[in-house]
Amino acid sequence: MNKTLLKIGGSILTNKTGADISSIKRIAKEITNKNKLVLVHGAGYCGHPEADRLLGKSEICDIYNTHRAVSKLNSIFLDFLSDEIPVVPIHPLNVVIANDGRITAFDINCIKNALENDILPVIHGDIVFDRVRKFCIVSGDQIISYLARRLDVDKVGLATDVDGVYLDGKVLEEITEKNISKVLNQDYHLGKTHDVTGGMLGKIKELWGLSVESVIFNGSTVGNINRFLSGEPVGGTIIKPSRIEDL
Ligand SMILES: Nc1ncnc2c1ncn2[C@@H]1O[C@H](COP(=O)(O)OP(=O)(O)O)[C@@H](O)[C@H]1O
Ligand SMILES: [Mg+2]
Repeated sequence: MNKTLLKIGGSILTNKTGADISSIKRIAKEITNKNKLVLVHGAGYCGHPEADRLLGKSEICDIYNTHRAVSKLNSIFLDFLSDEIPVVPIHPLNVVIANDGRITAFDINCIKNALENDILPVIHGDIVFDRVRKFCIVSGDQIISYLARRLDVDKVGLATDVDGVYLDGKVLEEITEKNISKVLNQDYHLGKTHDVTGGMLGKIKELWGLSVESVIFNGSTVGNINRFLSGEPVGGTIIKPSRIEDL
């Protein structure tokens, strides 16, 4: 059973005041083709300020406030998605354990059960328990990378707020073994959401090394998310599968 993994970047679900309701509404309407789809989303402005504060004070473990900020965005997104299709939220805090910032255990049975019952599972970047650091943030990008390896996935997409990965002022059509070191060695600025989990560079590092092709495309362009789910071209940057796993 082949599946599609789609991440909706926090940058297109939120704005400076929090959840961007009109954008969330538009995106929810574009997700019509949910056949064997696993949806992941980021936190954007909801959660990153909390995570920032939290990571600065290691002794005070304010897990709840960070989780609350991201799960609130998840609930709002699901409120709109559930108008279109049956959905279920999956909170990493309850099903993931990390080891020094990386996911080591993830009970994916809930995802498999949702898919078997034709229910769309919606997972989000979250704070989780960590065996070394007590707790850490796992990004939607890391979740995508993990699930692409664990689920039988044939399509991976990351919808964000730019047209793809820029190099020398132009959007790259693809990232391959030929240009990966140049891509990794250029300077990146954090996006407008002040992403604490690595921004565009973090995304590329998570996707490079997958055995399936993935595409970073502009999800703020109306219709693109629907086009991706329908198998139509969306432009963006394709990250080719690679055998070089270690960066
Ligand atoms: N070379 C680059 N190419 C594309 N985007 C870049 C680049 N360098 C920095 N960025 C920033 O990365 C942002 C996307 O990352 P992020 O904010 O983490 O998005 P998301 O919410 O989708 O995870 C873009 O808005 C852009 O400003
Ligand atoms: Mg991000």
